[in-house]
Amino acid sequence: MSWSFQNHHLPSAMASLHFSELITYPALSTFYLFSLALVLLFIYVSGTLISFLVFYLRESLLSNHRPPVIGTVFHQLINFKTLFDYFVKLARKHKTFRMLKPTHCEIYTADPANIEYFLKTKFSNYTKGFNYVVMNDLFGDGIFTVDGEKWQHQRKLASYEFSTKVLRDFSSVVFRQKAAKLVNKVAEMARAAAAVDLQDLLMKSTMDSIFKVGFGVELDTLSGTDVIGVSFSRAFDESNYIIFCRYVDVFWKVKRSLNVGLEAQLKRNLKVIDEFVFQLIQLKREQMGIRDEDETKEDILSRFVLASQKDAMINDRYLRDIILNFLIAGKDTSANTLSWFFYMMCKNPLVQEKIVSDIKEATEFDCGASVDEFACSLSEEVLNKMHYLHAALAETLRLFPAVPLDGKFAKEDDELPDGFKVKKGDGITYLAYAMGRMTYLWGEDADEFRPERWLQNGVFQPESSFKFVSFNAGPRICLGKDFAYRQMKILAATLLHFFKFKLEDKFWVAKYKTMFTLHMDKGLPVVPVPRLCKD
Ligand code: HEM
Repeated sequence: MSWSFQNHHLPSAMASLHFSELITYPALSTFYLFSLALVLLFIYVSGTLISFLVFYLRESLLSNHRPPVIGTVFHQLINFKTLFDYFVKLARKHKTFRMLKPTHCEIYTADPANIEYFLKTKFSNYTKGFNYVVMNDLFGDGIFTVDGEKWQHQRKLASYEFSTKVLRDFSSVVFRQKAAKLVNKVAEMARAAAAVDLQDLLMKSTMDSIFKVGFGVELDTLSGTDVIGVSFSRAFDESNYIIFCRYVDVFWKVKRSLNVGLEAQLKRNLKVIDEFVFQLIQLKREQMGIRDEDETKEDILSRFVLASQKDAMINDRYLRDIILNFLIAGKDTSANTLSWFFYMMCKNPLVQEKIVSDIKEATEFDCGASVDEFACSLSEEVLNKMHYLHAALAETLRLFPAVPLDGKFAKEDDELPDGFKVKKGDGITYLAYAMGRMTYLWGEDADEFRPERWLQNGVFQPESSFKFVSFNAGPRICLGKDFAYRQMKILAATLLHFFKFKLEDKFWVAKYKTMFTLHMDKGLPVVPVPRLCKD
């Protein structure tokens, strides 16, 4: 059998060809393959859109005690730049609502009772589900993506490690060293130029800290001298962003198969990340083979490598996933929170001064101490006395939660406490960013930055974790919460003790970049003014 191709747009010599002849015209066969790929893509795209339209009509018209449908993934795409504020507007009208995606319905809620129900009461019915598919390329089988046995295994191992005195003491020493280094860097930069991008410095400082605590490695991105560290850091940040974009890009899988656009960039970045992490694991194994155990087992990787010697489940791939997830958990969350905290300090100078007094009272340092002396004085006992600083950090997380929204997927049909029905396969997301701005949760002054709302007689009062959901809640509550507060208090206290911070432009309004974590778009340009003894 021979196939004949007719095409009037082609030169006449090529207009009528037999298949065997195509082989001698490689440009032409590429052309036909490309056309075929375009036709298949067109069929795929239009098929997806038509089935989505049918799904939309069915779900919007049939209510059946389901949360109201108030939009689709395309509304999210249109509002992508200000996505979290778009959800604020929606949550003001409906505590719980639905938006449709081509693959499933997504339920969004700002109702603490519903949140308690799906994060805790009916924990077993709500899993990471679809998140695993989206996040697996970067996060692998790490604690953020897995459920069931794998999650229990990592949670148990990690909870144990985080509760050990060795890790607590080691991390505190690292945080103090990095805080002193950051103060010196800010001083040096302030001498050279009026304004500094504080977010950039905080991101680098927390990256250096988590690397030291996580891997036992001095990365030194703050000084900018570590080329490999900087390229790893860039690959890591870009990958994080691209993975988030998958949630609103219905064609990401097609792009991944064709290796085009952001997906091609992700593939290149993953190669950089994997090479770096596997080398570190190898190095750590070698170091642990030659050194005394006690000397090397302070950092998280060493402790997991030790555990791997008794646990066959922990191979190098699994170690890579565990460690990367800790990096993701600990790197941006603290730096982003601190960036919004310092932004709030600049917008609320009276609060800034109250915190400085709180720090002076707790440390009993007025002025005159060196940076190292001051940082070294920040023991756990001293930090625990800083109630006002703690309240200001909690207030920052209420308005600017590092993870602005987060959710699960339903395994079976269910009913929420507010009476709305959930169907098997539905996504359910809590709106941490929107919740911080709801008057029905925080009163008429919900939009105001007011640390006092967390204090009673000067003592910090925690809120229900289902209402203040910035650290997640239930059995999967953030494992690094105390760790993060300790790190943020050490960095904030050291910086505020030595500098008064002002915005470079006092009318400047910070905006976020829409991604997993609440990253400040275009940095935080501040002017650090050294505090003199008379201050
Ligand atoms: C301000 C800082 C932080 C905030 C706001 C924060 C918030 C969160 C949130 C919202 C989750 C739930 C994510 C999910 O659904 O998968 C989470 C989980 C987690 N966090 Fe944090 N986090 C912070 C810092 C840290 C740090 C410094 C670490 C450790 C180095 C850490 C370790 C973890 C781990 C291991 C989980 C997974 C828990 C599980 O799934 O069982 N976090 N965190």
